[in-house]
Amino acid sequence: MLGELGFYTENHIDWEMLWSPYDERTYSFVIEQIQPEDIVLDIGAGDLRLAQRIASVVQKVYAIEIANRLIPSSLTHENLVVITADARYTPFPEDVTVGVLLMRHCQHYRLYAEKLRTVGAARLITNARWRLGVEVVDLQQDRMKFRELDLGWYACWCGQVGFKAGPPSQLTPEIDRIVNEVDDCPHCHMTGD
Ligand SMILES: C[S@@+](CC[C@H](N)C(=O)[O-])C[C@H]1O[C@@H](n2cnc3c(N)ncnc32)[C@H](O)[C@@H]1O
Repeated sequence: MLGELGFYTENHIDWEMLWSPYDERTYSFVIEQIQPEDIVLDIGAGDLRLAQRIASVVQKVYAIEIANRLIPSSLTHENLVVITADARYTPFPEDVTVGVLLMRHCQHYRLYAEKLRTVGAARLITNARWRLGVEVVDLQQDRMKFRELDLGWYACWCGQVGFKAGPPSQLTPEIDRIVNEVDDCPHCHMTGD
């Protein structure tokens, strides 16, 4: 059943498909991370409110949105290219330098990060891993194996985040401030990612 806000049945809500905008603080942070020379791909762009703002500050924006009903009938920016499609199955444009993924309930972080990395994008601005916080992920950087991390915060290529426990005596304020980019975390093994 297709409701006002997304797809749901009596017993199941597909949170990932729900439309809801974010706050001004989130959008301002995203725009601050983008340079005029960037070519941006906004994944799950909703009613294009952010994509249109990004289009005022960069040379080109692609916006992918699955829900046709959200997309305004007239666009204000010529450099905004709207793709009405499922981002999981749509090839990403080859000239993208930055991805934007504001989708707190995203179940496909790894897929989108890998598609962006494959087309050569450098950064991903997203709340998909930390949910409440927006981060800028360096898509091309090397990642350590989870087992190589002694203790501390981690964010995994699969989209999971967490804290790897260790002897409390080893936890310093410096270690507590760092987020380690890893792959191969316990969640990867549980899901076969
Ligand atoms: C939480 S809303 C955020 C909208 C927009 N990013 C913003 O911040 O204003 C998530 C959006 O992602 C879209 N979406 C979810 N899965 C998608 C997919 N596989 N392909 C394209 N769009 C998708 C939903 O339709 C919804 O509009």
